[in-house]
Amino acid sequence: MKAEIGIIGGTGIYDSDAFENVTEVDVDTPFGKPSSKITIGDYEGRKVAFISRHGKGHIYSPTHVPYRANIYAFKKLGVERIISVAAVGSLKEEIKPLDIVIPDQIFDRTKHRKDTFFEDVVVHVGVADPFCPELREVAIEAVKELGLSYHDKGTYVCIEGPQFSTKAESKFYRSMGFDIIGMTALPEAKLAREAEICYVTIAAVTDYDVWKEEPVDVKTVLENMAKNEENIKAILRKLIPKIPEERECECKDALKFAITTSPEMISE
Ligand code: ADE
Repeated sequence: MKAEIGIIGGTGIYDSDAFENVTEVDVDTPFGKPSSKITIGDYEGRKVAFISRHGKGHIYSPTHVPYRANIYAFKKLGVERIISVAAVGSLKEEIKPLDIVIPDQIFDRTKHRKDTFFEDVVVHVGVADPFCPELREVAIEAVKELGLSYHDKGTYVCIEGPQFSTKAESKFYRSMGFDIIGMTALPEAKLAREAEICYVTIAAVTDYDVWKEEPVDVKTVLENMAKNEENIKAILRKLIPKIPEERECECKDALKFAITTSPEMISE
């Protein structure tokens, strides 16, 4: 089975009900099993694969999501583009719950995650711009055409979780000028780059974290994610047909000059 586009569904987005000619595949990887079986189907004229990030029944916490297995499994299926969907908190007044953000930067505050595929070889992949510029452009076009309230850039601070932030942390992130906060964009984005797969995040805002009003809780996140669900489906429906068949971006060559271990050491 092959697919060209992969979707990683986040909190509140667990299924791929709009797919046609659906097959479910159970993929093995050197990093274990992905979070869920992978659904592959036809979607808006393209072959698309779907993984539920937190697994069926939301069993994996942000720390324990098998990120490497998920990206590796997509690579094995031939996926060249990943659209990740994620619930996030807002760190700015003007980024309101139910808004959509297409972030352009990430700040890493994770602590307990394996964040590279390369353990026996030294590989320094470039992640200065962690999201694919080509995919971001089509995602922005899609949200714009739908007339949604959106933000075409923003810095996503990725915390370890599973707890939400303290007020002091939230205040600090705001003082640094970060825009949104979540728990899963890393290591996903960096692993996708290592796998030379384009990656974009559709971030759906669910709350004002803990700095503005009542501190965020799970009930608010789930309620607002349910309200966001129709918008996310509409974005995917608009976005997927816009993705060019051929890639012009640099994501596809990310490993070209990145491996520093000498070839004779690798072959031994
Ligand atoms: N996901 C949704 N809202 C969040 C928040 N405030 N902090 C971290 N992750 C989130």
